[in-house]
Parts: sequence; C-alpha cells; structure tokens
Amino acid sequence: MPDSALVTYATSYGSTREVAEAVAATLRESGLSVDIQPVRKVRTLKGYDAVVLGAPLYMFRWHKDARRFLARHRKALAERPVAVFALGPFYTGDEAEYQGSREQLDKELAEFPWFTPVDLVIFGGKFEPANLHFSYRMFMKEIPASDLRDWETIRDWAASLPAKFR
Ligand SMILES: Cc1cc2nc3c(=O)[nH]c(=O)nc-3n(C[C@H](O)[C@H](O)[C@H](O)COP(=O)(O)O)c2cc1C
Repeated sequence: MPDSALVTYATSYGSTREVAEAVAATLRESGLSVDIQPVRKVRTLKGYDAVVLGAPLYMFRWHKDARRFLARHRKALAERPVAVFALGPFYTGDEAEYQGSREQLDKELAEFPWFTPVDLVIFGGKFEPANLHFSYRMFMKEIPASDLRDWETIRDWAASLPAKFR
C-alpha cells in the first residue's frame, strides 16, 4: 500500500491545476500523504511511492511540459505506479470528442513505449476564449466559453487510485 504520492501537472491557463488540486485533496482523504507541484518544479521523485501526472491537450499534442517531464524522469517513473489524466474536450462534450482526445493522448504516449501508467483518463476541459493568446483567439473566436470539468467524476477517479497503486 503506498503511503505517499506526488500529484504533478502542466497547465497553460490554470484549469488543469484546479483538477490536480481536487485529485490531491481526494487522495489525502484516502489517507495518503500528498504533495502537489507543477511538472516544471519537480526535481526528484525520491520519497514518493506513486505519481499522478495531469496535463491538457493543445493542438493535438499533450502539453510540452508533460512530455518533457516523462523524458526527464524516465527511470524514476518506470519504477513506481503512475496514473495519468489529460484535459481536452470543451466543445460538444460528446463521446466522439472524448474519443478524439483519447486518440491524441494515446498517440502522444506511444512516443514513450517504456511508460505504462496504471490508469489513464480524459477529463472535460475548460475553454475561455477571452483569456486566449491573440493568435489562438483569432481562429477560435466563434467557439463559446465552456467548462466541462465534472468534479464528481474527477473525485471518483481519484478515489479509485490507491487500489490501483497497490
Ligand atoms: C488553443 C487551444 C487548443 C486546444 N487543442 C486541443 C486539442 O487539440 N485537443 C483537445 O482535446 N483539447 C484541446 N484544447 C482544450 C484544452 O485542453 C482545455 O481547454 C484545457 O482545459 C486547457 O487546460 P489549462 O487551462 O490547464 O491550460 C485546446 C484548447 C485551446 C485553447
């Protein structure tokens, strides 16, 4: 049974950080000792029995900070259970959109064949056109703001992790 976990995340606009915070809070309620840090700040995974890695999809790719994290911590990640979540769907929120995001994530992770997460999930994302960088705003301005993060689904997933870490 793991005692300690690191929840680490990449984000551009903050919605993935809020999901990571909810995951961390649920893991603590399950009795784990949990730290939370952005991937860029993580120097070592020493002292953690398990890791949760979360990052959003952008332009069909997983956030570059998450890809760098995988490359940088390859050895340590291969030695402990890791659960992955990705944020993506923000438009129709239907099954096809989730499936599309899942295929994008699978394609990205195929570049890291040594990486075998104990679980992998896609959560709905948050889309806020007003906050976007100018270059994105230009071609996404017709899409309405949305927040498809389902907090109950997120907490249920987090609550299922300690058993998967075993
Ligand atoms: C410019 C832009 C491009 C995006 N591209 C994708 C994509 O290719 N696939 C996907 O599933 N989600 C995509 N998304 C949705 C994001 O993953 C979602 O908005 C997420 O919540 C952003 O996370 P953050 O707030 O932590 O940066 C995109 C969002 C934006 C704003």
